This record gives sequence, C-alpha cells and structure tokens, in this order.
Amino acid sequence: MRSTTAPGTAPVAPGRIPLLGHLPRLAVQRVGFLQSIRAQGDIVRIFLGNRPVYVLNSPEAVHEVLLTQSRKFGKGLLFDVARPFIGNGIITSERDFHLRQRRVLQPAFHRDTIAGCVGTMTDIAEEQVSAWRPGEVVPMDLVLRRMMTVMLVATLFSTERPDGAAAVAELGERVAEQLTTVMRGVFVGTVLPAPIASSPLLGHRRYLAAAAALRELADTAVRQARQAEQAEQAEQAGSEGPERRGGAGHGDLLSIMFAGTPGNPRGMSDVEARDELLSLLMAGAETTSTTLAWALHEIGRRPELTERIKAECDALPVGALPAAATLPFTERFLREVLRLHQPSWLLMRRALEPVRVRGVDLPRGAELIYSALTMHRDPAHYPDPLRFDPDRWLDRTEKDLPPGAYVPFALGNRKCIGDHFAMTEMLVVLRSIVSRWRPRPVAGHRVRPVVHALIRPNALPMRVSPWPAD
Ligand code: HEM
Repeated sequence: MRSTTAPGTAPVAPGRIPLLGHLPRLAVQRVGFLQSIRAQGDIVRIFLGNRPVYVLNSPEAVHEVLLTQSRKFGKGLLFDVARPFIGNGIITSERDFHLRQRRVLQPAFHRDTIAGCVGTMTDIAEEQVSAWRPGEVVPMDLVLRRMMTVMLVATLFSTERPDGAAAVAELGERVAEQLTTVMRGVFVGTVLPAPIASSPLLGHRRYLAAAAALRELADTAVRQARQAEQAEQAEQAGSEGPERRGGAGHGDLLSIMFAGTPGNPRGMSDVEARDELLSLLMAGAETTSTTLAWALHEIGRRPELTERIKAECDALPVGALPAAATLPFTERFLREVLRLHQPSWLLMRRALEPVRVRGVDLPRGAELIYSALTMHRDPAHYPDPLRFDPDRWLDRTEKDLPPGAYVPFALGNRKCIGDHFAMTEMLVVLRSIVSRWRPRPVAGHRVRPVVHALIRPNALPMRVSPWPAD
C-alpha cells in the first residue's frame, strides 16, 4: 500500500469539502466510497463534517485493532448513538462491565445449548414454510425478518414459560416491526451531524417512537418473566423443600440473566436484563434475516445451488444436527453469502488511549471505521470477488487467508457471541425451505441493495414451487 503523507499520519481521502468533509460521498456512495479509498493506505482519514474518522483499509489493520491491540479500543460513535435507546447491554458497554455481562451470557451460546434449541428453531421454520402454497409469491425478506425475530425471541424466552409459544410469537412479531426503524435511526445518527439526523424529513420521530416501543416491549417482557420466575420459585419452595429454592430456571437466556453468579450473586437487575435483551435483539435478528434473504436471492438466481443444497439436506440422517460437518456444501454456501453479502458494512471503534497501528499514530479518542464487506471483496484475496462461488472455499480455506481478510463475525473481545447460533439457525431455515420448495425470482422485479445500518435487498418476492415427485 502506498502512502505519501508524513510518517505516523494517515493520508486524507480525496474529495474533502469544506464543512461537510466527506459526508456527501459517504452518504451517496456508501460502500463504493469506502472501496474507492482502499488503495490509499492501510489507514486513511476521512472527515464526517469536521470530525476526523480513520478508515481501516487492510486486513492487517483490521486484525490489529480487533484482536492484537483490542484492549486499547472501545466501541465508538455508532454505539454512543445507540446507547440512549438500547441501553448499556453487551453490544454497547465497555471494559469490565462488558466483560462481566459477556461472561454471564456466554453459556447460552455454548454449542450444547444451541444444539438444544434446534428443535424449537425447526418448529418455527416448518410452521411458516409448510403454510406456503404451490406457485405462491412469498415476500421472502419480510417472512424471514419475522421468522428470525420470532426464533430469537423463542430462544431468549423459553416457550415452556406459562405465557407459552403464542405470546413468544406475538412478541417476536411486534419486535420485528420496530427493529428496522431503530437500526436505521442509529445509522443516520452516526453518519450525519445531529441537526440533520434529527430532521423530521429523515424520519427522526418515527425512529424515536420505534425505539420507545421496543424498550417498552423489552421492559414488559422482563417484568413478566421475573414475576413468573418468582411465582414458580415460591411454588417450588412450598412443595419441594428448600433445596430447590433459587433455581427455577428454564435454561433460557432470561433465566441465565436472572441467576446469580459468584461475582454477582443477585443476578442481573431488571434494567440490566432489559438492556441485554435489546442488545441481543439488535444484534441477532436483522443480521440473520438479511443474510438469509441474500442466500435466497442467490438460490433464486442459480437453480443448481438449490439442487445441491436439497440433495445434501435430504441425505441428512434423522436426528443429525445441521452443522458444517453434516451439511458441508450448505455451510460453504452460507460462508460465501457472508463474504459477498456481508450485512454489516460499517462498524466502528474508538481509541481509548494513544495507539500506533500499522505505523499510524492514532490519538486518544480517535474514531475508526472498519468494513468487513470491503475486506471480503478484495481481489488480492478473492479472485473475481463479485462472483458468487461457494466452491472457492474448497481451494482456499479461511486458514489460508491473511488474518483480518474474512471477518463476518469480527474478531477478538467483541467478536460476535452469536456466530454459531446464527449459522445453526440459517442452516435450519435453509433446510426447511429447500427441502420442500424451489424458490424462484419473480419476473420484472429487480433486486437492489439498500444500504443503511445493514445492506439488505430492497424487496425479495419469490415464487415457490414444489419439487417434482421422484
Ligand atoms: C449472520 C448473522 C450475524 C452476523 C453477520 C453478525 C455479525 C456480528 C459482528 C460483525 C459483530 C461485531 C460488531 C463490532 O465489531 O462492532 C457482532 C457482534 C455481536 N453479535 Fe453478531 N452477528 C450475527 C448474528 C448474531 C446473533 C444471532 C446473535 C445473538 C443471538 C448475535 C449477537 C451478537 C452480540 C451480542 C454481539 C456483541 C458482542 C460483544 O460486543 O461482546 N449476533 N456480530
């Protein structure tokens, strides 16, 4: 990489405009702008208005910030904007508090725990997919958004709770209604100066209302779950003696949050649990539904992929869990979807102290942007990068790539806690859809990427036809 600036400083990207800086280019070109400044250096400075922001352009810089020097970085502006609305949960919190919360939540994401959720995930997917009729046009993006939110909510709140599966499904649907608006508002508030971001023309009121509604839903859900938990504990204490006291858990995430730990014997407060719930909903619903929407888009364009996935899923022995080992092609296919259609195109960090990265001195408080998407489309590591080809992963595995070149779930202390959960959910859903149906694009509809907090298809209507009988 070439740099013409003084040692220790990052070059400034071309096209800076007085007062606005590079905002117009970022707002209009978005990913294209980040791609266009990659050749300028490992780290390049852009200006959002007058605010300098350092863009990490090389896998080495990404790897250093996310992993080897991760302790020197916090989460940055994007998460400052989100915090007043979604609270101080795992995605927004910092340092010791973040570590403590992450440790509490971790057991919910162990492989064995996730294996225990596959039945619920499959039931939710099957319920939806079995209701489709041959030849029906399914609004796939909307259906997936609802399905993945309900799936996440169902694993956060056990359906064995007294309020049951119907309440979980209803909550999931109501959350799904608000999430997209909240995520869009956080994105707008990050890239645009406050006076512009809060303009009614950009839907600021809708954003505030959606954030308040989401918070209210989470508050109520936590309160009800706490009351139910306490009632059950009281009942058990009465009927079974003191040895059962304090352990009325359902094994779901809320029970894990409520349970005491050696460092925090009383467990999380209602506010902490509410914030974690919001964090997990923000991080875990739209990411999976968007990735799956792109997966279905690719399937629709390439019928031979559908056939390979179906053949593999049909051969899965009864009782075997959908996983990389049992569905290798389907997993490779999803890995390629996460490469080419990585939903998180812009994430941020902030230097908590002065730090040198790839020869560039970053002052304390420096805001950083990294984009997994631009890493994933680098021709140096992915020949013909815009070609969708799951089999590229046969020739070159993740281990053959430079660290930082493939980071769909990030790296280091802030790596996605739900990576395995997400892959399992996506395999389950693909299996349910493709085992029964061949989804095809609808003539006349052009799928275009819409870039906000995530990159998602504008709309994805698909016609589903059954497989011919053997
Ligand atoms: C395809 C789906 C998913 C993708 C692509 C994805 C991607 C990511 C990425 C890139 C990060 C790091 C963000 C950063 O660097 O600032 C992250 C963090 C996180 N993800 Fe995911 N994610 C997915 C699904 C999920 C799911 C299903 C859950 C939970 C059920 C989840 C929970 C989280 C949490 C809690 C964090 C914050 C971790 C921390 O800061 O300690 N994600 N995810």
